Order: sequence, then structure tokens, then C-alpha cells
Amino acid sequence: MRIIETRNYEEMSTLAAEMIGAQVMLKPRCVLGLATGSSPIGTYAKLVEAYRAGRLDFSQVRTVNLDEYCGLAGDNPQSYRYFMNHHLFSQVNIPQENTYLPNGTASDMEEESRRYEDLVEELGGADLQLLGIGHNGHIGFNEPTDCFPAEVHPVALTESTIQANSRLFDRIEDVPTQAITMGIGTIMKARRILLIAGADKKGIVEKALTGKVTPLVPASVLQLHRDVTVITCKEG
Ligand code: GLP
Repeated sequence: MRIIETRNYEEMSTLAAEMIGAQVMLKPRCVLGLATGSSPIGTYAKLVEAYRAGRLDFSQVRTVNLDEYCGLAGDNPQSYRYFMNHHLFSQVNIPQENTYLPNGTASDMEEESRRYEDLVEELGGADLQLLGIGHNGHIGFNEPTDCFPAEVHPVALTESTIQANSRLFDRIEDVPTQAITMGIGTIMKARRILLIAGADKKGIVEKALTGKVTPLVPASVLQLHRDVTVITCKEG
């Protein structure tokens, strides 16, 4: 595992975007596993910058996102589909049909979970999976629990996650209580993993990377992956 501590959010975003950009250059038809949240916004902005400067071409890239809220359609500004379109997909030359997220409005979430798991597999898995981390150590929406879920599955969000994510909603009652997420197994199948974490995550990152491997701290499983880069920042 490589751990890189940068000075600030800007530097973290630059480094993360360089790593993702290198993956795209080396394998133009790569599969990028992508994440939402505040942490990757700067990274996506840097990727857009590189694209506009003519340094990156996304025309053959395929993307698979980690998760989506249940009950929110793609045109809902709080949905992760909307977030991805806004911050990345609509700003670069990736064909929309090559961008995948779980469907949060599917009528049967178990069936949707199987479909999405199969889809990730059919694409050959992620060459590089970008991750953020929740304050309780969640990755994707894999909340602390007594086992590491292997596959894509529906999940009930914990109170602390609802609380944390409520900053992006008008009222806490508007935060969905359910989501659909890649499983820990789906994430661990990625060939490379890149975890980015702001200064506010210092404590949980340390616990996840140096503490014991336990589903009570879902990100601790990354200690078992053979190619993980963690980029943290001192401030911001
Ligand atoms: C959400 C997402 C996670 C993300 C986490 C941290 O719950 N499902 O994928 O890593 O929040 O988000 P942030 O980067 O905004 O702190």
C-alpha cells in the first residue's frame, strides 16, 4: 500500500487526477470505477481541465460508479447520476452510454443488484477504482456490519451517514434511507484502488489502514488488496 500525504485538497486532487489520467492514457478503453461525495469533486475538475487542454481522451473509457441512492431518478440533483453527469460526464467526451451507475429507481433492488454485479463483471471489472471514505469507515455504501458483503446489494444507511450526507439536502428528512452499492467483494476485484481522503478523515483513515481488518471498519479490508494508493491531505 502506498500512502501519500499532500498539503491540501488541491494537491490531493491533482495527484489523484494524474493517476486516473495515466490509466486512461495507458489503456484508452479502460474501466474506471468512480465515486461521489465532496472528496472527488476536485479530482474530476482536474480531469476536465486535462481533457480541455487536449491531454486526455475519454472516448473509449467505460465507467462504473460505486453506488446510488434508492428512490432518486437520474434527473434529481441529489442523485449520484446527476452528480456524475454534472461534475464529469457532461464535461468530457465520454459517450453517456458508456457510463454506468446502479438504477436507484428499479422496482426490484435485489434484481437490480444482480444486474449491476453482472454488468461490472461483463466489463471485465474496474482497472482503477476511486474511493472516498465515510466517517465511520464505509466505502461505497458498505456500512459497518458483521460481514464483508461480497456483491452489489441494497443497504439501509446508518444514522451517521444520513446525518453526514444531509448537508447536501434541504432537510434531513429528504435524505434517502436506502441505497444500492457495490459490495466489498466487487470493490476488491478492481485491479488498482485509489482512496482519497480529506483532512477531516485523518482519524478514520489511520484506523482503517493500521488497525485490525474488520467489517466494523469496512475500509480496513483494503489492507488485503495488493495495489492500493491512499492520498490524504493535511488541510482542507
Ligand atoms: C457517501 C458515498 C461514499 C463517499 C462518502 C464520503 O456516503 N456513498 O462513496 O466516499 O460519502 O463522502 P465525502 O467525500 O463527501 O466525505
